Amino acid sequence: MSTIILGIESSCDDTSAAVIKDGVLLSSVIASQAVHEAYGGVVPELASRAHQQNIVPVVHEALKRAGVAKEDLSAIAFTRGPGLMGSLLVGVSFAKGLARSLDIPMVEVNHLQGHVLAHFIQEPDGENVQPKYPFICLLVSGGNSQIIRVNAYNDMEVLGQTIDDAAGEAIDKCSKVMGLGYPGGPIIDKLARQGNPETFKFSKPHIPGYDYSFSGLKTSFLYSLRDWMKEDPDFVEHHKTDLAASLEKTIVDILMDKLRKVVKDTGIKEVAVAGGVSANNGLRNAFREHAKKYGWRIFIPKFGYTTDNAAMIAITGYYKFLDKDFCTIDKPAYSRVTIK
Ligand code: KG4
Repeated sequence: MSTIILGIESSCDDTSAAVIKDGVLLSSVIASQAVHEAYGGVVPELASRAHQQNIVPVVHEALKRAGVAKEDLSAIAFTRGPGLMGSLLVGVSFAKGLARSLDIPMVEVNHLQGHVLAHFIQEPDGENVQPKYPFICLLVSGGNSQIIRVNAYNDMEVLGQTIDDAAGEAIDKCSKVMGLGYPGGPIIDKLARQGNPETFKFSKPHIPGYDYSFSGLKTSFLYSLRDWMKEDPDFVEHHKTDLAASLEKTIVDILMDKLRKVVKDTGIKEVAVAGGVSANNGLRNAFREHAKKYGWRIFIPKFGYTTDNAAMIAITGYYKFLDKDFCTIDKPAYSRVTIK
C-alpha cells in the first residue's frame, strides 16, 4: 500500500500544502502574503488572518493537483514550530482537525529540520541527487544562521549559530535603511549582480569557534551610510548597486569562512545550504567555487525549496511516518526552539 502524506506549513507568512506519495512529490501549493510589503516586515496578526483565509483553498488545491482524495491520505504532517504563534496555530489546528476527522495519524515537524531535509524532496522526473549522511548544512534564513552536522534525518547537531542577528535579518534591515523595500534579500541580490563588491568595506566579526554574529556588520553599515549621506543625501541612489554588492560579499564571506573551518575540522565534504538566504546568487556561487577549490560535494536547493514550503514538511513527515513517530493531539505549537 502506498504512503501518502499531506504536509502543511504556516509558520510565518506563507500558507503552503504539499502531497508526497512514497517519497515522491505530487503537488506543492504556496500562497504568499503580499499584505506585509506595505509595513516593511511581517505583521503577525495580519499573517494569522491571511492564513485563516488561505488554508482551506490551499489544501484543497494541493490535493486536487496531486489527484488524491483526502480519504487516501496516510497521515498529515504539519509545522509545529518554531515560528509566529498566531500563524502556527492556524496550520496546527487545521492539521489536527483534519487528521482527527479522517482518523489518521498526525506527524509534527520542526520547521528548521524541514529546511535541512528539503534536499530529500524527490520530484517525479527530477534527477535525484541527495546528500549522504553525515553531511554539513548551512541553514540561513530570516530568523536563523546555523551550521548543522546532519547524522541522520532525525539526528542533527548544531555546531555553530548566530549569537545575535540572522544573516537574512541583517540583509533585510540594511535594505530597509537604504529605503529599498521588503523583503530585502531578493532586492539586494538583484542589485548586487550589477555592482562592484570591492567598492565598500564593512567590518567583519571576530567570534571564536563556529558561531556567527551579524549585528556589528549591521551597525557598521548604518553608521557608514549615515556619514556618507551627510556629504551626499542621494548617496544610496548613486551607489546602490555597489552598496548591495559589497554588503552581500561581506555576508557571504562571513558565512563561508566559518563553514570552511567546520569542513576542515570535521573532514566532512558533503555540504548543503538551506533556508531563504540560500536563494542568494552570491552565496550559491561561493558554494560552487568552494566545491571546485576544495573538492566539496555541494547541495543547493531549487529556488522553490529555499523559502518556506510544505514540500519540505511533507518529506520530513514521510520519514517520521515510516518510523511511526506520530504526535498526539495535545501537543501545542511552539514559537521558539532551534534544532538540538
Ligand atoms: O527561510 P525563510 O523564507 O523564512 C524565514 O526565516 O522566515 O527566509 C526568509 C529570508 C529573508 O530574510 C529574505 O530576505 C531572505 O530569506 N532571502 C534572500 C533571498 N531571498 C530571500 N536573501 C538573500 N538573497 C536572496 N535572493
